[in-house]
Amino acid sequence: MTEDFSPLPTSYRAIQQATIDQGFTMASDLATGSFLKTLAGSKPKGRFLEMGTGTGLSTSWILDGMDQNSSLVSIDFDDQFLSIAREFLGNDPRLELELIDGEKWVESNAGQRFDYIFADTWHGKYLLLDEVLEMLKVGGLYIVDDMLPQANWPDGHAEKAERFIQKLESTPFLHLTKLNWSTGIIVATRKF
Ligand SMILES: C[S@@+](CC[C@H](N)C(=O)[O-])C[C@H]1O[C@@H](n2cnc3c(N)ncnc32)[C@H](O)[C@@H]1O
Repeated sequence: MTEDFSPLPTSYRAIQQATIDQGFTMASDLATGSFLKTLAGSKPKGRFLEMGTGTGLSTSWILDGMDQNSSLVSIDFDDQFLSIAREFLGNDPRLELELIDGEKWVESNAGQRFDYIFADTWHGKYLLLDEVLEMLKVGGLYIVDDMLPQANWPDGHAEKAERFIQKLESTPFLHLTKLNWSTGIIVATRKF
């Protein structure tokens, strides 16, 4: 089996070029993008949340998997990165891009519920995990990547990642699968 992630989202190459020009290096890889798209297809009429838009590369994959009756809220606190997502994806009426700090967004949106959460920044992963998992509907998908040791991890991050995985494992309402693939993906569904 060859690793073939085509077709790429329509805007992917253009966003990728702008991402390189901007010097943004934190984007999810193609394997994760393809996986995000496939999982997104399982939630017709879904409410989607992405924490950590970056320049919109993973956003483009999620949008590609969503049906026309779904909606995606994606947040980031960096306007330089977010403006790239806005330029290439901002015309999609299903997408709401929000320039806001993760903590502030979680505090202001605690009552919202989502079918699918891709947690790709501090909040919803290493910070405010309980609060963000509370926003996941029963049957909903929670996804994180970068769980295998990465070259750019600072000192102490490996321990932080291990504590995060243990916390997920001990969350009684989650079914969890840890994939030793791509950058290390964890996918969970909410049982109750
Ligand atoms: C791993 S990158 C996201 C990559 C993107 N999801 C992708 O795959 O293309 C993490 C993002 O989190 C954002 N971020 C970091 N701290 C944040 C905070 N406190 N609130 C909101 N966003 C934050 C950064 O600006 C960065 O764009």
